[in-house]
Amino acid sequence: MPDVIAYGGDWNPEQWPEETWEQDVALMREAGVNRVSVGIFSWSLLEPVEGVFDFGWFDRVMDLLAGNGIGANLATPTASPPPWFATAHPEALPVDADGRRLHHGSRQGFCPSSPIYREKALRIAEQVALRYRDHPALVMWHVHNEYGCHNARCHCDTSAAAFRTWLRARYGTLDALNDAWGTAFWSQRYSDWAQILPPRATPSFTNPGQQLDFRRFSSDALVELYTAERDLLRRLTPGVPATTNLMAGAHWDMDCRAFAAEVDVISTDHYLIGARPEPHIDLAFAADYARSLGGGRPWLLMEHSTGAVNWQQPRNLAKTPGELRRNSLSHLARGADGIMFFQWRQSRAGAEKWHSAMLPHAGTDTKIWREVVALGAELAGLAGVAGSTVRADVALLVDHSSVWAQDHPAQPTSELDPVEEAKRWHAALWRAGVTCDVAHPEDDLTGYRLVVVPQLYLVSDAGAANVEDFARRGGVVVVGPYSGIVDEHDRVRLGGYPGAWRDLLGVTVEEFFPLAGPIRLASGTTAGVWSEQARATTAKVLDTYEGGEPAWTRNQYGDGTAHYLTTRLDDAALAEVLATACREARVEPPARSVPGVEVVRRSHADGRSFLFAINHTDADAPVTTATGETVTVPAGDAVVIPG
Ligand code: GAL
Repeated sequence: MPDVIAYGGDWNPEQWPEETWEQDVALMREAGVNRVSVGIFSWSLLEPVEGVFDFGWFDRVMDLLAGNGIGANLATPTASPPPWFATAHPEALPVDADGRRLHHGSRQGFCPSSPIYREKALRIAEQVALRYRDHPALVMWHVHNEYGCHNARCHCDTSAAAFRTWLRARYGTLDALNDAWGTAFWSQRYSDWAQILPPRATPSFTNPGQQLDFRRFSSDALVELYTAERDLLRRLTPGVPATTNLMAGAHWDMDCRAFAAEVDVISTDHYLIGARPEPHIDLAFAADYARSLGGGRPWLLMEHSTGAVNWQQPRNLAKTPGELRRNSLSHLARGADGIMFFQWRQSRAGAEKWHSAMLPHAGTDTKIWREVVALGAELAGLAGVAGSTVRADVALLVDHSSVWAQDHPAQPTSELDPVEEAKRWHAALWRAGVTCDVAHPEDDLTGYRLVVVPQLYLVSDAGAANVEDFARRGGVVVVGPYSGIVDEHDRVRLGGYPGAWRDLLGVTVEEFFPLAGPIRLASGTTAGVWSEQARATTAKVLDTYEGGEPAWTRNQYGDGTAHYLTTRLDDAALAEVLATACREARVEPPARSVPGVEVVRRSHADGRSFLFAINHTDADAPVTTATGETVTVPAGDAVVIPG
């Protein structure tokens, strides 16, 4: 692994007169920038007319970088086809579920299944690769940009045909598809593949199996676009790593795990959402997810922001002094080996001119610039962190298929949100100082002590068995409500809920009772949103509803234990349950502190380690390490303690 932390951002020099470029690289050096992503949105300038290429200006960009010792994550500019593409190939523009064909004029204006888009994308990618494959600035391929951020699903006829091909490969026969989708219901039985459509606007609910498979197909179509470019780049530049920036934890339309299996380096983007009261915990979820996607190996934060974003939120919040540093160190603590931003120089024009940057509109005599320069120096001093890893004893399970299945609008309640629930459980662990991996139910769980399942409505047979096996061998499991309910086709597992895990949990559930408001359990704790009428078969009941039915149970299973919650506990009660499970599993935080202080350890295989303590509060806080030493972390500050 490299012995530096990559530092920099997207550099879009094409937005500026060439006179600024020299100043840009001089300022980059001042800020300690050693890596930039270039060419991401350059297609219309690199190929101004179909088939006519202009690389002269980009040669100068790449030469400037090489001359200043700055590495390039060189993009294939395929995320934003130029206007000539849409004009010449209007059939390649994406179509929404209502049949509206979208126009060009923003970005990602293409149907992921369009053959002509793929042809033109591969051609420009090939041109870029041929031109720069031996260029000294080239460090890594930045393929496309955030696949599916705006065009995750296309409902056009080309997509319909591709969907049918995908379904034929998955099911082989129409009988198998009809069975999987339960098409006997509402007279939906298909007698010819040609009858099958993407889930377009319909009079009432579309078929749940159809919508789930369409989500899977749409994600696969994007992964295929990635691998097509990646394969071309591998052929032309063997040895140059390729990545594409994911949106782990933030955008659930694309199956990050499928992308993760194809990239050489995990990279991801993260932005703070204004409405979240503790956005740094959401950040930690995203970072933990990015690390877990790569099986724990160091990853690259490809984008975050120095200040405000420029989205459709009521308020795009600027960062407070120190927040940029805390955010960056949180990513670093959780396994990033690179801290990068969108973007280097704040745009003067275009749709994101109010998005902050490393070099703001107001120039260098600014809070942001001073923080950017200070962070560059600090990261240079932390070079020894590069290549170290984070060991997590806890796995929190999520699965895109489950999120997609639960997204079907016909549910017992619309108030159970699996992503928010996963983040709430993660937040409870964060507050306890416990770092967890964000894993998939079919991942190897053997290295963990505790597995938590906040809400996995859908679980495959293999995933269900994997979790059972983990408990049987002595692990501790905590399962939240409305988990293990349906199979991989969104068909109910019969005989009492949760069909996947009745034996594991020692509980059987007859009926769901969504709640209109909060309730009190026998222990006095508060729950809400959801309840289940359950009966303990082999489990011990730890808390009950007023009527005596189980709300929290614990079952001995093999050499391990499995807790089950039949309701959505409030934050404090959930924290208690997870604390109990952590004690049972002997899971300890790397240091002790007060609420709002983040503690994470990164370690090298040779034993060298770094304890990150990040104080997100406005009061000084004590942090006591495992060896009993106490340090004070000033309000809003952070320390990295080598060990
Ligand atoms: C990302 C995207 C960037 C920029 C950024 C800020 O989603 O990759 O190009 O748009 O958001 O909004």
